[in-house]
Amino acid sequence: MTATLIDGKAFAAALRARLAEEVAGLAGRGLVPGLSVVLVGEDPASQVYVRSKERMAAEAGMVSIAHRLPAETAQDDLLALIRTLNAEPTVHGILVQLPLPAGLDAQAVVLAIDPAKDVDGLHPINAGNLASGVPALVPCTPSGCMMMLRDRLGDLSGANAVVVGRSNLMGKPMAQLLLAANCTVTVAHSRTRDLPAVCRSADILVAAVGRPRMIGADWIKPGATVIDVGINRLPPEPGADKGKLVGDVDFEAAKEVAGAITPVPGGVGPMTIACLLDNTVEAACRANG
Ligand code: GUN
Repeated sequence: MTATLIDGKAFAAALRARLAEEVAGLAGRGLVPGLSVVLVGEDPASQVYVRSKERMAAEAGMVSIAHRLPAETAQDDLLALIRTLNAEPTVHGILVQLPLPAGLDAQAVVLAIDPAKDVDGLHPINAGNLASGVPALVPCTPSGCMMMLRDRLGDLSGANAVVVGRSNLMGKPMAQLLLAANCTVTVAHSRTRDLPAVCRSADILVAAVGRPRMIGADWIKPGATVIDVGINRLPPEPGADKGKLVGDVDFEAAKEVAGAITPVPGGVGPMTIACLLDNTVEAACRANG
């Protein structure tokens, strides 16, 4: 069997086009959604992500301002910037790119963000609202995964869903969203016993572990829907200056077993940015009644 490809790039482009129309409508009422992205240090992958976030926000008609701070930035200075952004009415969304350089306390930074502007959905108020079934700003990557799953499968009720990974940004909110969609959810992680067997029980398998091609064909139930959240760069081949980007799933092998699968790149990644813009529009609308 050869799996259907879930084209996150096309899906994200369609979502961004819808958002651009919505933003144009808001502009007619004098509201321009504003996003502030804070990048501390020079992590190369984070620099690429932040540039994409800026460009796509601008293309959708929003105001996007990136604050680039040196890696040696003091915690107090970072917190002071967040307080300034919290108080700025033209800023509707604040995202502090993670990971932060060593020495900075990410949890304290997340706690300092006004929950109404927390477009990453990481503040405990938003995480708690999500867990309680209250409308919330939901982390962007899990939101994007859910949109693709709903598009592919329709009603998810009763499906066995396995999420591999338990991060605050991905695994935990993904599990909450699948549970809210009436799936039977298992959260697996590095200490899970017989991880391949757990994965093989999944109708929906979401991989978010950050280990290149860890999930092979024999971990996948025939016909399952596989969402690969991993973005891992392999060491460069001889003569190349950059290694290949691969997911947590061995795509070439898995596509012969799965019913549908997201590619890397071009799967979940583009959806994350589109959902960030969606959250920013939502935060702007909520702030303005
Ligand atoms: N680093 C990688 N993905 C993300 C994300 O979705 N949000 C933030 N803040 N940092 C990230």
